[in-house]
Amino acid sequence: MNYHIKDKSLAEHGRLRIEWASREMPVIKLIRQRFIKEKPLKGIRISACLHITTETANLALAMKEGGADLVLCASNPLSTQDDAAAALVEWGLPTFAIKGEDNQTYYKHINSALEHKPQLTVDDGADLVSTAHREKKKLLADIIGGTEETTTGVIRLRNMAKDGKLKYPIIAVNDAKTKHFFDNRYGTGQSTIDGITRATNVLWAGKKVVVCGYGWCGRGVARRAQGMGAWIIVVEVDPIAALEAAMDGYQVMPLIEAAKIGDIFITTTGDISVIDKAHFSVMKDGAIMANSGHFNVEINIPALGKMAKSKRQMRPFVDEYVLADGRRLHILGEGRLINLAAAEGHPASVMDMSFADQALCLEYLVKNKGKLKPDVYPVPEKIDSEVGRLKLKAMNINIDSLTKEQEKYLASWEEGT
Ligand SMILES: NC(=O)c1ccc[n+]([C@@H]2O[C@H](COP(=O)([O-])OP(=O)(O)OC[C@H]3O[C@@H](n4cnc5c(N)ncnc54)[C@H](O)[C@@H]3O)[C@@H](O)[C@H]2O)c1
Repeated sequence: MNYHIKDKSLAEHGRLRIEWASREMPVIKLIRQRFIKEKPLKGIRISACLHITTETANLALAMKEGGADLVLCASNPLSTQDDAAAALVEWGLPTFAIKGEDNQTYYKHINSALEHKPQLTVDDGADLVSTAHREKKKLLADIIGGTEETTTGVIRLRNMAKDGKLKYPIIAVNDAKTKHFFDNRYGTGQSTIDGITRATNVLWAGKKVVVCGYGWCGRGVARRAQGMGAWIIVVEVDPIAALEAAMDGYQVMPLIEAAKIGDIFITTTGDISVIDKAHFSVMKDGAIMANSGHFNVEINIPALGKMAKSKRQMRPFVDEYVLADGRRLHILGEGRLINLAAAEGHPASVMDMSFADQALCLEYLVKNKGKLKPDVYPVPEKIDSEVGRLKLKAMNINIDSLTKEQEKYLASWEEGT
């Protein structure tokens, strides 16, 4: 079997952790049980570019048991869990992913996954899809469709579709309510705090934490950091998001002002050079910067590198840059997704829903082969509500349902004051 991972002997450790994650993934378990019987992905070649974690391994098993001929590669150079990769290989799933791989290896791995000649693609950030469209155009005709996991990937794919460049249909899994309401908010919220804590062991209580971007991820990060006792400052460019942050009880100000007072800066914007030279110039000695947005471009690290007179690694995932005036600024996890670089990414319980959406959307694409023209599609409402219903059930939470009278009232307009 063709694969490229760090160390196959890590498989047993990986297997145990994958089983541990599975205990918090009851919805994926139910889907897996049905997929074993129905084989909805039978014989379908799938290339999946995802963070290679224990949660992803559970999705991979569901796809494999659904009959898929699956190959995996990493969706970020720093997010791979090498033991999970080893377990996947042991289960006969070709995997191309090594934690800490350089950019060249990262793209080599994406190309290896594409050599599988996929009929379905699963992407997280759209690097697989854009590589296929740029460098492997011959493959595109055979692709039934794809799914995209994250906000940044969906933005890139919509831009491709707008330019008329997208050649097959893709479902924006990120945009499902059962994905971004929970994964982006609670998952990124908790795991970002976890990543920064594991990397630095800082005390959050009393710290001034600057959250750049008050979208789904930013909201989660701000609320969790506040829960740890931090003072929160939100930086935004969107007036509505800024207003929401203000009414949620946070200070809101431009980054150039926040830069002077912040202790910890966290970017969750999906944008480029959000923290830049002007901000580094006024930051306090000891400031810490971390990113939880998809790409490592949110903090302009090359500019910081040029400003610094020296750089050293203080501990794993903590780089100290010393400026000419003696101030020490710190970048965590090379500016890559800190929750995956220094911690384990999202807890399994939220990935249960995101990956249930993924599995059901892949099944949907196969069932609707040839019916969807190249474009970016929302997750079908039926799938979204089914995943929500199954998750509630798994959590033993019952809810009310509408009475006949209420159904009629809500569907009418005649009755008023
Ligand atoms: N770390 C993870 O595991 C994880 C999980 C989910 C999503 N993501 C990534 O996180 C990023 C954010 O995702 P989201 O779902 O929160 O997106 P979102 O669109 O809900 O929010 C982004 C926010 O950032 C703001 N913004 C954009 N440019 C800005 C700037 N220059 N300064 C200040 N604010 C700015 C926008 O106005 C918006 O409110 C994306 O890159 C996404 O792919 C990461």
